[in-house]
Amino acid sequence: MSKAMGCKRFNIFLLMLSVLAITACEGSAGWETGPTAEPTAEPTAVPSTEPTAEPTTEPSAEPTPQISVTSLHAEADFPIGVGVPAGNASNSLIDSLDRQQIVNAHFSQITAENIMKPDALHPAEDDYFWDDAVALVDYAAVNGMSVHGHTLIWHNQIPTWMSNHTGTAEQWTTMMQTHINTIVGRFADTAAVVSWNVVNEAFTDDAPSVYRNTLWFSNIGEDYFAQAFTAARAADEDADLYYNDVRLELNGSKMNRVVTMIEAFKANGTPIDGIGFQMHVSLTSPEKTAIESAFARVVNLGLKVKITEMDVTVNDDKSLSALALDTELAQAARYQEIVKAYMDAVPAAQRGGISVWGITDDDSGLPELHQRDEWPLLFNANFTPKHALQGFADGLVGGGSE
Ligand code: G3I
Repeated sequence: MSKAMGCKRFNIFLLMLSVLAITACEGSAGWETGPTAEPTAEPTAVPSTEPTAEPTTEPSAEPTPQISVTSLHAEADFPIGVGVPAGNASNSLIDSLDRQQIVNAHFSQITAENIMKPDALHPAEDDYFWDDAVALVDYAAVNGMSVHGHTLIWHNQIPTWMSNHTGTAEQWTTMMQTHINTIVGRFADTAAVVSWNVVNEAFTDDAPSVYRNTLWFSNIGEDYFAQAFTAARAADEDADLYYNDVRLELNGSKMNRVVTMIEAFKANGTPIDGIGFQMHVSLTSPEKTAIESAFARVVNLGLKVKITEMDVTVNDDKSLSALALDTELAQAARYQEIVKAYMDAVPAAQRGGISVWGITDDDSGLPELHQRDEWPLLFNANFTPKHALQGFADGLVGGGSE
């Protein structure tokens, strides 16, 4: 045996001894800290270069809550949904196994984030594009999920030809009715498509004018609203028809305008089944009492209440550059608070469902995210669950008026 070989073996022996010694030390420390939760947040802190403090013998004040929910939708007997990217989106659900694993496990309904909006489905007056929507609806059906159609009549994401359309009020009305009839009719015999946001964001918040001055309002007048719902019902007698808006949960003047609309629809027989509350909220606003009061006003009018685009921002003041555990736990508590408010304020028969607006934090379509770091949803960018997922689940369990 060469000297080099003998020396090599002795060195290996020493190396093994040192490895065993290190392992024995680490192993005992790991066992004393008990089970660790799945990583629930992006690494929140850059490793400190400061010398670590002497390990204290005091147990931590509060153990980190566990994330135990394995199927969010299994905790509810109404749709638990998610807004999903599709089509040519780089994060399309159809192309992402990570996103499919989350959506299939936790959700019973999907809403197309963009590909079922006017610009995507109706790119030219005499041309409709169905491929992406059909692929998404098929995906939902194959995986036992329903689809909430979003959205038929809006002032955003409309095709150029529609913006440039000219004609009399009657001609505009005919164009709108054809648009709605064709799209709703395309999916009327598709069992998976169970509801539509017929009109989205048509009221102003506090402006003197009640209706947002959209091209529909300016070319048809306020009758466009009822005509849109009438056209949707004519195309599908079974789908639930919703009016969807943002900041209704503030229960302010916009909510008053929605209530007035509902009362008018009920008086003149215009079909409408529910109100969609987008629920783009922060940790603190709006208050739970305002949300519950707004829900109650719709419940008292006999309509369904659906949370359609929920997310909870945590960095509105732009002070954070990472999601720390305490902020994540506050977000979880906020999700629980709002979901429980829904369960308490909305009777079972009037629960249209609760949907979040995006799969992972990096998928969020909130425009604010172009200006700041945000983590508004239930899953981390690396597809691991956040405490918000457990908070949402905890809000579903045990709460609720029947
Ligand atoms: O499709 C084009 C692509 O061809 C182009 O290369 C790219 C870059 O310019 O833009 C793409 O269009 C973008 C579209 O999303 C599809 O990705 C638009 O620029 C972008 O503005 C649009 O944002 C969507 C936004 O609505 C538009 O208002 C968000 O993804 C979507 O999450 C958001 O969703 C809305 C709801 O529909 C209504 N309630 C508010 C909610 C959040 O803003």
